[in-house]
Amino acid sequence: VKTIHIKGRTGGSAILIGETMKNLSEHIPSEDVVIITDSNVWDHHRNEFPSFETIKIGTGEGSKTLDTVTALYNRLVQLNADRSTILVGIGGGIVCDITGFVASTYMRGIRFGYVATTLLAQVDASVGGKTGVNFNGYKNMVGVFNQPGFVICDLSLLKTLPKKEIVCGFAEIIKHAAIADPGLFSYLEDNYAQALSLDMDVLENLVYESVKIKASIVSRDEKEKGERRKLNFGHTFGHAIEKTTGASHGEAVSLGMVLASAISVQRGLLSEEDHLKLKTLLANYQLPIHGVLKKESMWDALQKDKKRESNRMHFVLLQGLGRAIIRDIPILDVKEYLEQFSEQQDQDHE
Ligand SMILES: NC(=O)c1ccc[n+]([C@@H]2O[C@H](COP(=O)([O-])OP(=O)(O)OC[C@H]3O[C@@H](n4cnc5c(N)ncnc54)[C@H](O)[C@@H]3O)[C@@H](O)[C@H]2O)c1
Repeated sequence: VKTIHIKGRTGGSAILIGETMKNLSEHIPSEDVVIITDSNVWDHHRNEFPSFETIKIGTGEGSKTLDTVTALYNRLVQLNADRSTILVGIGGGIVCDITGFVASTYMRGIRFGYVATTLLAQVDASVGGKTGVNFNGYKNMVGVFNQPGFVICDLSLLKTLPKKEIVCGFAEIIKHAAIADPGLFSYLEDNYAQALSLDMDVLENLVYESVKIKASIVSRDEKEKGERRKLNFGHTFGHAIEKTTGASHGEAVSLGMVLASAISVQRGLLSEEDHLKLKTLLANYQLPIHGVLKKESMWDALQKDKKRESNRMHFVLLQGLGRAIIRDIPILDVKEYLEQFSEQQDQDHE
């Protein structure tokens, strides 16, 4: 088991990579535990759950709401949960985000931890202390920063995860490599076949290296005032693509990274060769690098992006593979890029 620590102002987090869910009880310093999970994770893995009180929630973004939070508060009150209770979320990013939010607000905050059961949760959602829910159709609109006490990344749980969910996790791992680690980028290039066939040693290494990158960025900038914005690489266009097409988050982020790196080329920051390397890597991990963009609705979505400040926006670009920089770009330039790319993508598609 490899452990990575995050020391945040909101507390410390120990992320245990290669630990198994069966040893969960060893990491909980109390018998007073309530587990939150979703119905899929329960169906696949109930035999590995420790015998604590377990609350099941529904699946999908539609469950990530204040209604679910209210239902969980009600259940915790019924169970006489108090400040000594520890909440453990066992699931993907949705279960983790909700569990963290409920634990951070119930009785002004109780202790909590996660067992991350999707690749995306292991490399991204469980790490860094962002918790929260969607509100009125806006993603992650209500929430708090608060670090979980522990996170268990049990790689064997990924064997039951649908392929498309695995691929979503790869998109974030590739993002981490592209913004911060040329070594991880080469490792991803060399090991895509093993990774796609869920070779456990390769996956464990990918999760470890990926968490190391996110943890070090979060430790320097927990509340996203500066450097943490680098983790949004590919996400500005990505979110707009996700909102306006049927693409999954991972697919949308993949296209978003292709667009952000194309802008990096245009601005003389990235070579054509490196841009092509990124596209090849994404394609090798079965992520899309072309797609039809709906430029009008994407423009609407971009304008509503919460990262926008006045008429400029923080945009993450690559200055070479493994090195991200944040540029403050006029929103009208972003519009121009969008026009240009939507034409290009249409041509690529014909
Ligand atoms: N807090 C953060 O910093 C952060 C970062 C990135 C994403 N997120 C959030 O994470 C969420 C996405 O997370 P996700 O991709 O894990 O989605 P998810 O939680 O919806 O899980 C994906 C699907 O896989 C199922 N599942 C989970 N584990 C399984 C397993 N081991 N075997 C079989 N099925 C399993 C789930 O029931 C669900 O249907 C989004 O809401 C996003 O906003 C948060």
